[in-house]
Amino acid sequence: MAKKILIIVGSMREQSFNRQLSRKAAELLAGKAEVSWLSYRDIPYMNQDIEFPAPREVLRVRKEVSEADGIWIFTPEYNHSYPGVLKNLLDWLSRPVEAGNRGSAAAAGKKTAISGAAGKSAAAHSRSKLRELLTMMQAEVLEEETGISLDMKAFQTDLLELTEEDEKQLAKQAEAFLQFLG
Ligand SMILES: Cc1cc2nc3c(=O)[nH]c(=O)nc-3n(C[C@H](O)[C@H](O)[C@H](O)COP(=O)(O)O)c2cc1C
Repeated sequence: MAKKILIIVGSMREQSFNRQLSRKAAELLAGKAEVSWLSYRDIPYMNQDIEFPAPREVLRVRKEVSEADGIWIFTPEYNHSYPGVLKNLLDWLSRPVEAGNRGSAAAAGKKTAISGAAGKSAAAHSRSKLRELLTMMQAEVLEEETGISLDMKAFQTDLLELTEEDEKQLAKQAEAFLQFLG
């Protein structure tokens, strides 16, 4: 059976370059995996006062993550880190569903891939901080990453154009992720 890959875009922006990049990744996975996107703009801010029972929207995102064989995160870089909206989602996914059992969290043991599109840094800072966070959350993180450096033209047109090198890296990562999922 085809593996299920759930894409998480760390940007709320409609024309997000990371969303555009995720669509290119999905094209590469076509016919090889079942791909869907997680919608999470409705989840509340993490607040331990409302954690139990978890809000309906949180139950939904946890279910979608649990049912996926792998998640592929596309993150922008905000001030050398990942955006707060992504951190908020991951905080919800990091919490045990069964009291006292850390391994019962939706993110625990989840096979995860990281990519990012940003300015000059190619999201290197946010990708590395995201890896650290996911590792701490007991996710299994794929070694291969893709980092896209956006140029002036991209920022003027809001259109993501990949270089040949970028395309090769993304294809390599997609293949490696499929292998990783087994
Ligand atoms: C609050 C904020 C901080 C940012 N900080 C950085 C940064 O540290 N490094 C970088 O390369 N780009 C930075 N950027 C630019 C974003 O990476 C860039 O706008 C990117 O396109 C956002 O991703 P998106 O198109 O998927 O929304 C920042 C943007 C915002 C809004």
